[in-house]
Amino acid sequence: MASTFPPPPVNTIDWSNVGFKVREVNGHIESHYSVQTGQWSPLKFVTDPYIRLHGMAPALNYGQQAYEGLKAFRLPGNDKIAIFRPDRNASRLQHSAEFISVPPVPVDLFIAAVKAAVALNAEYVPPHETGAAMYIRPQVYGSSAQLGLSPPEEYMFCVYVLPTGVYHGTHPVKALIMDEFDRAAPNGTGSAKVGGNYAPVLRWSDKARGEGYGITLHLDSKRHEEVDEFSTSGFIGVLKEGEKVTLVVPDSRAVIDSVTSLSVQEIGRDFGWGVEKRAIKYDELPKFTEVLAAGTAAALVPIRSITKRNSSKLQGQARVSSSDGAETVTYIPEGNEEPGEICSKLLDQLKGIQLGKVEDKFGWRFEV
Ligand code: COI
Repeated sequence: MASTFPPPPVNTIDWSNVGFKVREVNGHIESHYSVQTGQWSPLKFVTDPYIRLHGMAPALNYGQQAYEGLKAFRLPGNDKIAIFRPDRNASRLQHSAEFISVPPVPVDLFIAAVKAAVALNAEYVPPHETGAAMYIRPQVYGSSAQLGLSPPEEYMFCVYVLPTGVYHGTHPVKALIMDEFDRAAPNGTGSAKVGGNYAPVLRWSDKARGEGYGITLHLDSKRHEEVDEFSTSGFIGVLKEGEKVTLVVPDSRAVIDSVTSLSVQEIGRDFGWGVEKRAIKYDELPKFTEVLAAGTAAALVPIRSITKRNSSKLQGQARVSSSDGAETVTYIPEGNEEPGEICSKLLDQLKGIQLGKVEDKFGWRFEV
């Protein structure tokens, strides 16, 4: 790349208020696969944000689609850009693609595509000082016409990018447990990042937002006894007894392997904290001193409280209150807008590494 790279951020965006909406940029990257050649085509930069897909494509009719989410940041001095752990997202996309019978995108092609998408839209990577990021959204689809329920002849791999702030914001958020609806069947697609795990949640998360709950939490769909994940992000429970800190994450076949959660688990271990990956019973919620939602878009969201309707299982325990037949475990009381101590420590270190303010001893930053 020439020495003028990266260009400065555009001055058409209020960088102090980037938000989480779709903004048009210069273009996206595409690669096409045909069963005849058995290969993904060379990467192509396309300026039109609308893609060309047959109306009978299984992506549109049968949900043969998977996606990823990762981020790029400007480093101190604004003269370098790095992408956070694209290798992990590359392998997660392969995992998801297998569920929906899409040929795997090779890891090298994935990394080259996200680098190219960021480089060719570099003026939309937010200034380092804002702490905001360029969000990267790779996608795969079955793209050619196919009426019968069998894999089509052609597939598309696209990488879109856009500047974003953090999803859910930075204040504590109230969570509602989804009792009326299950996100994924016990032996189903829960660990795959496919649209089919998200679209059915929309009406429930919208309803919950209308009732004051910024995020929804899913329990295991077989018995509703163990914690799976938030609709938008992974679950982390924090146990703090004196100086001893343990991060507890669900061991479930129905959750997405969150790169943010994995990263803060490694950061926690590096701090000398314990990490437990195990089944988390609903009854354990009052034991946690903090609960965090971890995801690329959200980074780490401090959970203010978790409410379950039509339940009185936790009655009498510390942190638990009941009203109208529902019970609520509170971690951060109303009026307190600050994240907990452990959330702040993990977030500072995570953002420090992502933004190049802290040594990258794990090798997580991939420079563009
Ligand atoms: C992400 O965190 O990157 C996701 O894909 C979640 C999405 C609901 C915004």
